[in-house]
Amino acid sequence: MNKRLLIFLALLLPLLTLVLQVLVLGVNDPIKYIYSFTGTVGIVLVFLTIALSLIKKWFNLMKYRRMIGLYAFFYAFLHFLVFFVLDAQFDLEFVLEESLDKPFVYLGMIAFFALLFMAITSSKKLFKKYNKYHISIYLVSVLVSIHFIMAQKSLSIEQWGYLTVILIIISIKFLQKRKLIKL
Ligand code: HEM
Repeated sequence: MNKRLLIFLALLLPLLTLVLQVLVLGVNDPIKYIYSFTGTVGIVLVFLTIALSLIKKWFNLMKYRRMIGLYAFFYAFLHFLVFFVLDAQFDLEFVLEESLDKPFVYLGMIAFFALLFMAITSSKKLFKKYNKYHISIYLVSVLVSIHFIMAQKSLSIEQWGYLTVILIIISIKFLQKRKLIKL
């Protein structure tokens, strides 16, 4: 099978799993479950997009970076929809109030709009003009990490695992940008 199609289908798998879990198998608290699931897949894909350049010597997926980045946005969009449709029930006043009042929500919102901007300007034509702003993926990575920590009352071993990987990726990227290591 074509590699691009394979990656496309693999990235669609979390959505199918989510639909199966919520609609067929059933979960205790669907809203919380969908929040948590879409948020986690979103943050994993944000960091995968960033990490692609680090592993390209051994495993080059650079030409699929746009698709993986767009999927990160897609899962973040589903996460946003949970907030807008299920939590806020289309009440714009509520959305605005929550976004302005709660640091946890506005960090998520800023990250979401930065992802939206990058998704819109990722077409060949617009990317030429706006690629310098795609560096905001690093801003997104920091914001969603803080957002992720703030969402927890306490961190599980799995979540500590995510944070460790995040820290490793950010540190290597930082050292690479400062030319302290070469990859
Ligand atoms: C659009 C603005 C956003 C809003 C309103 C929002 C809202 C929320 C809420 C309410 C929770 C807590 C859910 C719960 O456990 O009860 C949450 C958790 C989370 N969000 Fe967001 N979020 C936003 C953007 C983002 C973005 C852009 C990402 C990543 C790409 C993200 C990733 C996460 C993660 C990883 C969690 C923790 C999931 C877990 O429980 O393990 N969020 N978000």
